[in-house]
Amino acid sequence: MPVITTKKELEQHLASLPKNQSLGLVPTMGALHKGHAALVEKAVAENDTVVVSIFVNPTQFDNKEDLEKYPNTLEQDVVLLEGISKNIIVFAPTADDIYNNRIQSKVYDFEGLDKVMEGAFRDDHFNGVGTIVEYLLLLIKPDKAYFGEKDFQQLQIVKNLIVANNISVTVIGCPIVRETSGLAMSSRNERLSKDMRKEAAFIYKTLLTAKEKFGTESANYVRDWTEKQFENHSDLKLEYFEITDVDTLTPVKTKKTALKYRAFIAVYTEGVRLIDNIALN
Ligand code: PAJ
Repeated sequence: MPVITTKKELEQHLASLPKNQSLGLVPTMGALHKGHAALVEKAVAENDTVVVSIFVNPTQFDNKEDLEKYPNTLEQDVVLLEGISKNIIVFAPTADDIYNNRIQSKVYDFEGLDKVMEGAFRDDHFNGVGTIVEYLLLLIKPDKAYFGEKDFQQLQIVKNLIVANNISVTVIGCPIVRETSGLAMSSRNERLSKDMRKEAAFIYKTLLTAKEKFGTESANYVRDWTEKQFENHSDLKLEYFEITDVDTLTPVKTKKTALKYRAFIAVYTEGVRLIDNIALN
């Protein structure tokens, strides 16, 4: 399996592929798990060749410690990808290769999608995501690009970015893959103690009950109820819980039957930040 580390080499490799073949892209930051694997499997099923990028993008981290602690498991990642298909190209560049010694994000207007939840709690995060995703799309020019609903806000922002910048690609959103306990799979789960990894299943259990309550109660009631569940929890600290319209990501005030809603949550435990979300209707 080709593991390419510079954009120049990648461009040469892509230019050598037959012209009429389809190309898929799965952008990742590595430390691959079954959540990433599901995206890659879908991409492999739908395209002749798939580029999996593995790059811990510095401009999307507002917290230096989080960036430094981000796991790097390239060898293992390549083994996992080799088990999925031979038609995968791994692109694992350095920050210098991508940013030309100038590690800085572009500034985007995401029409407010970046002002709530992850955007409100992580300064400049989505400008960093936009910068690297736009870069990869323009460099690789895939027919389809795959993103997980685990990062639902990111998925909506990427869709906004490609429309605003007229990028020719189909964005495919893929469902959240969970551990047996219900905890959403994440590279950050590795940093939790064994006990806390079990305990953190509480996040998804609470989302499931919140969904049930949303069927009969107001959004405000469900928000208050959820906040209470975490007030009573000694180890899991709630950062935010929001119920928003899926398209605009604006927090719901009064439910409208024609609209689709989703609940979003971010929780801190053992210095690790965990996010999850669930479709409500
Ligand atoms: P990363 O966190 O590595 O995730 C890569 C892709 O895998 C994202 O689209 C994410 O939503 C998806 N993913 C992660 N866990 C998942 C799960 N449990 N179920 C389904 N999909 C899951 O997201 C990023 O990297 C970066 O922001 C990136 C887009 C690569 C830009 O740097």
